[in-house]
Amino acid sequence: MHLSHAEGDLTLEALWLRERNPDDATLDPLTGQRLIEAADLPLELNLSEAQLDGDTLSLAFSDGHATSFSLASLLAECRAPQAYEDMTFWKGDLSRLPETDFGAALEDDAALLDMLTQLQRFGFVRVSGVPNTEDGMQSLIHRIGPLRRTNWGGIADVKSVANAYDLTMTQRGLEPHTDNPYRDPIPGYIWLHCLCNAGIGGDSTLVDGFSAAEHLRREDPEAFACLTEVTPGFRYHDATTRLESEGPLIELDSRGQVVRVRFSNRTERVPALPSATLRRYYAARQAFYRLISGDDFTLHLKLAPGQMLIMDNYRLFHGRSAFQLEGGVRHMRQGYVDRDSTASRRLLLADQLSGQPDIKEEASA
Ligand SMILES: [Fe+2]
Repeated sequence: MHLSHAEGDLTLEALWLRERNPDDATLDPLTGQRLIEAADLPLELNLSEAQLDGDTLSLAFSDGHATSFSLASLLAECRAPQAYEDMTFWKGDLSRLPETDFGAALEDDAALLDMLTQLQRFGFVRVSGVPNTEDGMQSLIHRIGPLRRTNWGGIADVKSVANAYDLTMTQRGLEPHTDNPYRDPIPGYIWLHCLCNAGIGGDSTLVDGFSAAEHLRREDPEAFACLTEVTPGFRYHDATTRLESEGPLIELDSRGQVVRVRFSNRTERVPALPSATLRRYYAARQAFYRLISGDDFTLHLKLAPGQMLIMDNYRLFHGRSAFQLEGGVRHMRQGYVDRDSTASRRLLLADQLSGQPDIKEEASA
């Protein structure tokens, strides 16, 4: 079917229209899930009739089914999303940090939506007024989704300890990295709560990985392409755990948009690929590392007690400067929250607060 409308021309396949017919025989009215088996529809399906009356598009198909669409809804479904919609890229000179108040986000849905919208836009948000107790961030996590438990537990300490099981626990600086690329799935959001940060140094560093990756695509397309193609492994081993996964440093979605970055120097193990591939990879990784560790892209901030950072672990690189504990203590607590529950909360709140109806009943795939 061919549609001419204000935003341009559109050709729609009969079978594509048929499998999403907005009627009770095709889609469950409560959940919107499909009732018919789309794979059973005839492959040579045609439209036998099409009529437009205002917003109502009435269609009849060669399998004998007839239905009507809202034209506006159909066009909305066909609209390709803008690249990086709802995101603002930033560099180290970001002047106004995304901020929110813990108590407000806990009590007020509009404040929670604002927090989640900023998190989506910038990839991080700084939260003030967090209760100064070991699991002080837990009540706000409960508002969004389950805490992701790992082999390190739920909310875990990030402080300097003897016999550290991870370099995070030492006083050395940490290069920009994403957390745990050896897990499957990789943790979506990092919640980092500061209980005490009295040491000298220990600033948090943040880099917008999507912004850096797009910069690399423009300035060094060969390096960019290489980092989307070569797939290193990542691994973490200790006495009780073996975690291994793999994935490119820059991962693209089906439209070629950056959808996830990885960088974990400590845990990356690239396979013994052919020499030419490895040489190309090492040069590309070096170019990317110089970008994400350079002043241009690096934002510095120091968390104060009672503050926390929520960071998108698919988009941001984070690190810290080295610190010295003479006369001070640095004690952070960290937990992970999944991406799907976080996105769900934001999308649902946006619908609810704009007065749009949502599906009340529980549904499952
Ligand atoms: Fe980390």
